[in-house]
Amino acid sequence: MRPRVPLTIGVAAFLALGAAIAVPNIASASATLGQHAAARGKYFGSATDNPELTDAPYVSILSSEFNQITPGNTMKWQYTEPQQGQFSYGQADTVVSLARSNNQSVRGHTLVWHSQYPSWVDSVPANQLLGVMRNHVTNVAGHFQGQLIHWDVVNEAFEENGTRRQSVFQRNIGDSYIAEAFRAARAADPTAKLYYNDYNIEGLGAKSDAVYAMVQQFKAQGVPIDGVGMQAHLILGQVPSSIQQNIQRFANLGVDVAITELDIRMNLPRDAAKDAQQANDYRAVVNACLAVTRCVGITVWDYTDKYSWIPSVFPGQGAALPYDENLNKKPAYTAIHDALAGTTTPTTPPPTSPTTTPTSGPGACAATYQIVSQWTGGFQGSVTVRNTGTSAMNAWAVRWSFGAGQVITNLWNGSVTQTSANVAVRNAPYNGALAPGASTSFGFVASWTGSNPAPASLTCGIT
Ligand code: G3I
Repeated sequence: MRPRVPLTIGVAAFLALGAAIAVPNIASASATLGQHAAARGKYFGSATDNPELTDAPYVSILSSEFNQITPGNTMKWQYTEPQQGQFSYGQADTVVSLARSNNQSVRGHTLVWHSQYPSWVDSVPANQLLGVMRNHVTNVAGHFQGQLIHWDVVNEAFEENGTRRQSVFQRNIGDSYIAEAFRAARAADPTAKLYYNDYNIEGLGAKSDAVYAMVQQFKAQGVPIDGVGMQAHLILGQVPSSIQQNIQRFANLGVDVAITELDIRMNLPRDAAKDAQQANDYRAVVNACLAVTRCVGITVWDYTDKYSWIPSVFPGQGAALPYDENLNKKPAYTAIHDALAGTTTPTTPPPTSPTTTPTSGPGACAATYQIVSQWTGGFQGSVTVRNTGTSAMNAWAVRWSFGAGQVITNLWNGSVTQTSANVAVRNAPYNGALAPGASTSFGFVASWTGSNPAPASLTCGIT
């Protein structure tokens, strides 16, 4: 299994542009990621695995920096029911009790998955597998009843094209196995929120569409689903531009969303430029979650490169986590911290005055540029497009030239091309139509060095 993310940066997200988010005042630079997340009503957690718990410096950071823990392996079927009907919870209990002693919440991972299950499951006669699966879910969810905030009930059930993965459960039970697993989990632990969890569903696309359709169907049929986990095993520079829009659309279905296994891998070796890009990427994911009320938290798939799964599965890649192999914080850590804290350390007097280029006449539009927030090396901007003409528009394009080397790294509610300083942004499929007097906005995150002046002028037109 090799999670991939789309290469293209396309149309993106639903964001209340420029809307000020009330940030509770815990501005202490020494506050932890967990504390800052909690102040925003969310958690920031880490996966861990039992062999790592003998590493005292590692455990010290795990115990203090995060307010949520996921056992990376030891709740899986292979560990919890290695022989049929013989359940084993010792290693998972160790993680849960460590978390409890540190006042950390725990996500359960995972009850039904096509991987890391014992080989005896493959030998179960097809007509008995539903009962065997229910028995597994009932026992495992029952054992941890009341101790977990979430269960990843079913993991990775879809292919990239949105069809069902032909796992042993799909083949022998059929489409209904997912709903059956959720029903059994609810009966065994009524307090844990029940999640469907998958990779490459962070942005819009065939796979996330399929999960969306399933959640919609489950809601209509009363199947007990409470959340969708977006694993977010991402690639440097390829955070899907639609991530916030996608989180929001699931939230609009009436389920919570969690970023469950975040890491952002790069080709090795690390260098300063890659670290800076990675910091931007982590910031973009955190900000997307912060912007959606029902995005309840983020978990990194372990917090240190020392224990990342990436190098063993993707040779030549790694350095995917916010701490390096020596447990030192990387720029990604600072980006996560500052995004959660909402204190992005302004480095120059922020926002310049908006630049507006109003025009008039049929088919005319005006564009207004604004810096929403700025931090060392980066900023968030927004542009409002208004139909100042007398007839309806079906499409628009805004162009400007950056005067100081700024580069857009992520843009939502539009589609961007940037060639050197020259930026052109066209409407997204859903916001091109503007009645006379109507307006819409798009937002972006960009990098800057030295100074960050607003463009001298913007042009707005139909194409
Ligand atoms: O426990 C054995 C140990 O006895 C043996 O000496 C060692 C030799 O390689 O292997 C150990 O098992 C490894 C196990 O992790 C525990 O460390 C397996 O080989 C290894 O394949 C397994 O990898 C796990 C992987 O899931 C399996 O697909 C990773 O640690 C775990 O982080 C990873 O997590 C998954 C999520 O559950 C679902 N989403 C994707 C994510 C990354 O693949």
